[in-house]
Amino acid sequence: MRKAFEIGFGESSAELVIDKIPVQGKLPSWLEGSLIRNGPGTFNVGKQSYRHWFDGLAMLHKFSFKNGLVSYANKFLRCKAYDEARKTGRISYSEFATDPCYGIFDRIKEVFSPRITDSAKVNVAHIYNKFVALGEPSMQIEFDPETLESLGVFLYDGKPNQHITTVHPHFDQVKNEIINLTVRFGRVSSYRFMRVNNSETRDLLAKHPVKEPAYQHSFGMSPNYFILTEYPFVVNPLKVLFKAKPFIENYVWKPERGTRIFIFDRNTGKLIKQEITDAFFAFHHINAFEVDNELFFDIAAYPDPGIIESFYLDKIKSEENKLPGGEIRRYRINLNNRESVDYSRLSDEGIELPRFDYDELNMSKDYRFIYAVGISSKSKNSFYDQIVKSDIQSGLSKTWFADGCWPGEPVFVKKPSASKEDDGVILSVVLDENKGNSFLLVLDAESFSEIARAEIPQPVLFGYHGNFYGTN
Ligand SMILES: [Fe+2]
Repeated sequence: MRKAFEIGFGESSAELVIDKIPVQGKLPSWLEGSLIRNGPGTFNVGKQSYRHWFDGLAMLHKFSFKNGLVSYANKFLRCKAYDEARKTGRISYSEFATDPCYGIFDRIKEVFSPRITDSAKVNVAHIYNKFVALGEPSMQIEFDPETLESLGVFLYDGKPNQHITTVHPHFDQVKNEIINLTVRFGRVSSYRFMRVNNSETRDLLAKHPVKEPAYQHSFGMSPNYFILTEYPFVVNPLKVLFKAKPFIENYVWKPERGTRIFIFDRNTGKLIKQEITDAFFAFHHINAFEVDNELFFDIAAYPDPGIIESFYLDKIKSEENKLPGGEIRRYRINLNNRESVDYSRLSDEGIELPRFDYDELNMSKDYRFIYAVGISSKSKNSFYDQIVKSDIQSGLSKTWFADGCWPGEPVFVKKPSASKEDDGVILSVVLDENKGNSFLLVLDAESFSEIARAEIPQPVLFGYHGNFYGTN
């Protein structure tokens, strides 16, 4: 097995607090704040192993920048799934694609008291005065951004039972709103757009009943509309509630349904338009905006959900298949006409984990650059090995690739005095297969050349999302 996969999908590392890690190159003096990242901290518990990249016990990582220096800390998220795994040496809670080993009596017990993971490992968010680790089950975990200590459960939707949330809430700086999409399973299942008003209260802004809910990892939001993209990758809710199989394995691909696009008015909550287009699947909406009577949304699309299959660890490790890359598509919907949806492809690069200058250009038509991970055409790797910058206006791309280096999601940080969209840096945690550890890579976002790297003494397992929080 390739060493990178042995390390990056392997065992936990130590919990560290290091005041100063060695830096090669020169960090920009304006870079002050912390990159906080989330992801699996281990794929093994005792003698048991998780099966899929989206399983595992959550670990937070923090790289802090001040005066040209970098500190590092990491900590497992303390939650029931973590505590029980440590106590029993066994996987005790259901994950995305791994269930605990059940006996028949355990399975009956499970129906009445489901043990769905609270190990929120996919993203982090700053929600009013709280920092929260986000996972797809409804139990999010608050943490202290200074110490990374876990502080307890945070709920989007008031009730911790049998529904999922996306790990990509939207922040509307103009309306000062934080919104997320939740999916509730039940006798009548529903998609629900929730506004998080503060730590305590929520408003249900829009609700749509659904017989067979689709898997939802993100949603689109423009100034006036919510976009719910219902891929035909759907589940009979009873199967989730009665846990016939691990969570994601209950979903079925029904391409004959096509992908349905629901548009809700953000002010009234009303469903104003429903379109059906050819079947596709996506994890990530990227951006959405309106021009006159047209609504546009950009999305990293796949022809089918085969990408989920490709993330089973045995597939990645055996290097059996090359990962499919997400195609950056721009969907266009005429809000006045019926049956008017089409799309164009914005880049030739296959990407995943797309980011852009969200703080300034979310819901704006003027954005131009998408930063993401991809697979180099030089390699035939079964996992992401390069960082891509796609210019969606020209269709041209720049890439960063280094043999034996495996970069994670690129996070853009804008220079405070920036006059151009890409005036800033890209931060990415990179696993160095040759040295057996990880480093924080700092790229000039415009040229995509390396300006610095800061090395830690151990590897960071392959993770998903993170954010940079400036000190100002
Ligand atoms: Fe995501």
